[in-house]
Amino acid sequence: MRREKKKVKEIIFKNVDKLYGEGEYALENISFSVETGEFVFVIGRSGAGKSTLLKLISRQILPTKGEIWVKGTEVTSLAEWEVPFLRRKIGLMQEEYGLLRDRSVYENLELAMRATGQPQRLFKKRVVQTLRTVGVSHRIWAFPDEISAGETARVLLARALVVNPGILIADEPTANLDSDKAWDLMCLLDELNRLGVTIIIGSHDKELVSIMKKRVLTLSAGRLIADEKRAVYNYKAFDVIEERRIRNEQKQRL
Ligand SMILES: Nc1ncnc2c1ncn2[C@@H]1O[C@H](COP(=O)(O)OP(=O)(O)O)[C@@H](O)[C@H]1O
Ligand SMILES: [Mg+2]
Repeated sequence: MRREKKKVKEIIFKNVDKLYGEGEYALENISFSVETGEFVFVIGRSGAGKSTLLKLISRQILPTKGEIWVKGTEVTSLAEWEVPFLRRKIGLMQEEYGLLRDRSVYENLELAMRATGQPQRLFKKRVVQTLRTVGVSHRIWAFPDEISAGETARVLLARALVVNPGILIADEPTANLDSDKAWDLMCLLDELNRLGVTIIIGSHDKELVSIMKKRVLTLSAGRLIADEKRAVYNYKAFDVIEERRIRNEQKQRL
């Protein structure tokens, strides 16, 4: 059996650029790495490049330049047929990937398991177990329209976790929640992280990020302008000026 070392670099970005079409840089020269078991926030104002960065990790999109390594594999050079193998290692919570409204909570999770080709006899047990972990097992036969926003967020989390991924990527997971529910969800994510799941969260919820005191990567106009341990999030006028400066500089070059 192969043993994993404690401090393994699980995600590595090397000089990554992303331009959509001929437009502005969505990301420019991004380099960082994340070790197994880390909890990382990716923050920045709207349009800073958070979602783009998160989508690159699971190869939902390809970079214009640079290398992206996930669990020892360079994901930009994967063949299409290899991508599903990468996706099994990554749980995703994203706005554009909502619950199917005409399926029960159970069926939504079951479909996620089916998509990764796991044996059917494991489905029920695993779905129940995962819903229990996130505290919504009593809603297993409900339909998406019958559950609250807080429960929906938990079901989305359960769906991301049902295939037992080593990495969880959540893009603005608290966007639809009031601050109590957002805080509950963050505590849950923190618990999962303690169980060993690497967690990467895109957020612009200043308060929440500050309270959590985790590692924070700050994006501004597509550039990584800070990488801080146990950071407190604080937009200052400086950030806005910095963003304008970077955008102007990019326009002159393009
Ligand atoms: N599919 C797309 N096509 C063209 N431009 C895009 C696309 N997605 C994002 N962008 C642009 O890339 C930049 C970064 O966007 P995004 O990664 O969504 O930022 P954030 O998540 O921080 O709000 C923005 O200027 C946005 O308009
Ligand atoms: Mg976004």
